[in-house]
Amino acid sequence: MDLMKYLQKRARLVELQMSKLFPERIEPKILTDACRHLFKAGGKRIRPVLTLASAEAVGGKAEDALEAAAALEFLHTFTLIHDDIMDRDEFRRGVKTVHMIWGEPIAIVSGDALFAKVFEGITANVKRLGLSLRRATEVFATVSRASFEICQGQTLDMVFANHKRVSEEEYMRMISLKTGALMEASTRVGAILGGGKPREVESLSRYGRLLGIAFQIRDDVLGVAGEEKKFGKPVGGDIREGKRTLLVVRALEVSPPRKRSRLLQILGKRDASGKDVKEAISILRDSGAIDYAVEKSSELIERAKSELRALKDSEAKDFLLELADFTIAREI
Ligand code: IPE
Ligand code: IPE
Ligand code: MG
Ligand code: MG
Repeated sequence: MDLMKYLQKRARLVELQMSKLFPERIEPKILTDACRHLFKAGGKRIRPVLTLASAEAVGGKAEDALEAAAALEFLHTFTLIHDDIMDRDEFRRGVKTVHMIWGEPIAIVSGDALFAKVFEGITANVKRLGLSLRRATEVFATVSRASFEICQGQTLDMVFANHKRVSEEEYMRMISLKTGALMEASTRVGAILGGGKPREVESLSRYGRLLGIAFQIRDDVLGVAGEEKKFGKPVGGDIREGKRTLLVVRALEVSPPRKRSRLLQILGKRDASGKDVKEAISILRDSGAIDYAVEKSSELIERAKSELRALKDSEAKDFLLELADFTIAREI
């Protein structure tokens, strides 16, 4: 199984569908340009491909979930645009963020516009399949629930930055909401649209949630130990914003008092120098927090993979298994 080939092939299908749902000719041009900016910059397309693969993994066709897959990438893009405002990040996917180019007001409204497109995509999919009211309602309910959970998670992410003590349990809940919810929705919607049995839908949902949580832990690690060029996002930004990542939560728990207070001094200091940020990163490293996070994420991925035992063997299932391993090994 060639993971990247599978991913890219299906990503192309999704991108075509996204262009149909959000064509360049929509007026005003500034709104369309802002909405399409990150889309054009690339991205791994993991969520929409999860949707297509989940439809296939329960015996359906990838096409059964095509508009919904595009919709979930719109939802993801919307959260990224708003997230970059909240996190004051200046680049993503190797390009300037939307608010850096067009300013915050346009970034806010383009996020909203993408959110509206989510429901257009799902409606189109449900209509095309002539889905039963029960399944259609379940799809909409899944997307609404995930959208709300993302807001809960994003709020906790910001609130925690002002807390001295955040427990690992609180952190896990926060990332389950901000990242796990959308991955769960992506697999769940695919499984429903592919005609999955309730047991398959539930297993794929749990897989998606666990995958998302592990994905975020890896992201936290790359956010301090990654290579900006590959990662496409600022390294060290989480430290300047005072984010309570798993690394920070763990280091604050186990570091000796002097290192702990030094770390707290640097965290959240927006004008921290490169030297300060490096110092914070070495405190994280010395505490063993990076190794701890790696271990934690691989446990979660083992659990995610074991959820797939409920599915018959297929290429899609192989993809989901390999994607799970990729999630915690990735540099991008
Ligand atoms: C970024 O997600 C947001 C997180 C949940 C960490 P991705 O890493 O999937 O972003 P793109 O779509 O590939 O840019
Ligand atoms: C990821 O947020 C979750 C959402 C975007 C909702 P982060 O702030 O942790 O992720 P990056 O590093 O900016 O992609
Ligand atoms: Mg961010
Ligand atoms: Mg954020």
